[in-house]
Amino acid sequence: MDSTAVARSHWSSRWAFVLVTAGSAIGLGNIWKFPYMTGTNGGSAFVLVYLLCIAFIGVPLLMAETMLGRRGQANPVGSMRRVVAEAGAHPGWIAIGFIGILGALMILSFYSVVAGWILDYAMRSFSGFAGLTKAEAGAAFAALLADPLRLIGWHTVFMILTALVVASGVTSGIERANKIMMPALFAIIVALIVYGIFAADMAAAVRFMFHFDFGAVRREVVLSAMGHAFFTLSLGMGAIMAYGSYLDRGTSIMRTAFYVALADTGIALMAGLAIFAIVFAQGLEPASGPGLILQTLPLAFAQMPGGAVVGPLFFILVIFAAWTSSISLMEPFAAFLIERFGLSRRAAVGGMGLVAWLLGIAVALSFNEWSGFKILGLGIFDLLDTLTTKIMMPLAGLLIALFVGWVMRRHHVAEEMGLSVAQLGIWLNVLRFGSPLAIGLIFLHVVGVIG
Ligand code: PHE
Repeated sequence: MDSTAVARSHWSSRWAFVLVTAGSAIGLGNIWKFPYMTGTNGGSAFVLVYLLCIAFIGVPLLMAETMLGRRGQANPVGSMRRVVAEAGAHPGWIAIGFIGILGALMILSFYSVVAGWILDYAMRSFSGFAGLTKAEAGAAFAALLADPLRLIGWHTVFMILTALVVASGVTSGIERANKIMMPALFAIIVALIVYGIFAADMAAAVRFMFHFDFGAVRREVVLSAMGHAFFTLSLGMGAIMAYGSYLDRGTSIMRTAFYVALADTGIALMAGLAIFAIVFAQGLEPASGPGLILQTLPLAFAQMPGGAVVGPLFFILVIFAAWTSSISLMEPFAAFLIERFGLSRRAAVGGMGLVAWLLGIAVALSFNEWSGFKILGLGIFDLLDTLTTKIMMPLAGLLIALFVGWVMRRHHVAEEMGLSVAQLGIWLNVLRFGSPLAIGLIFLHVVGVIG
């Protein structure tokens, strides 16, 4: 690494990096998206493919992306530019950085709208859900979606919250907050599981999620599950690269990636179990879509002892988890604007936030006023989600695997990773053959459906 590189602020310790990266990974993807995707994709078939993708594609790529960031010591585009130059490779590889910052912007726009739903529910939870019925829970969510001003209002609040932290610099702000909120979130999900065991149908939830049957794996499920593995680990969108650039030398990338993936997967599975236990106990529809957690959990809070306290606490913690993720979605593009065009951090965050906010308004309207407006048969929300999760993230992942596996100089990679020869060999071979083949086959598989 050239010694002229500007000194960047760094995390205070290895654990701090694990925490903030877990903070990026753990978010709405785990608590909102994983349960509803599991529900719409038939349960265990989706869970099975998702777990395989996390282990065989997600973890190796998490290591690769962290490594690129630490080696590059800059925003995703700047980092790619440096590592590409160092490898003497074609500048076209820098596209990895651009796909990332662009994708992060797109995700941020709908992420903020969904986080707005949670804010709305957090507010409502203070007056309690006592006496709420199944029908009322469904109607309440439908009413929220039908109200553009409420959606846009909460979306605005959430975007401002995100911008405030990113404007003050990520390394100081989020580190401290993460240390308290992440363990608290974990504790409250454990409490929901306990509720599921004693007061709801945990046995049915376990059966739904873990009764693996390879024969039940449908084509569309495979791409959805792979896309979700990327989404939940924050892969390919520059977030991990940006955070990796603040990581100290000498920290084991493999170990940290492993802890992050473990925590992320654990939270998702637990959230899924807690929610499906309620779904089956209440006779709700598992495949009811993006509103699933908001149509189920309030019923549990209405009935469980202490629900008046657990409810608000839960929603606040989910907002926090979403917040630490959205920060990591805003940081890559902002860092790019700062480092590439010399903007002040405030100006960069303001500009990036404004674009994401405007796009988010279109997302909010796609649930009501603009619900008839479709591109390629998809509304704006679905379109942004599909483009990023099913196309841009796997594509960026594929390119990262190929770049690290085939293009980078092996001794540079070895220097950065500090692995044993055997470990390095296995990991590099996964990146060279395993991940590209898996991602490629899944893409082809799906194209087969369409074509
Ligand atoms: N991983 C985050 C979640 O599960 C979302 C995210 C995606 C964050 C991509 C950063 C980059 O909620």
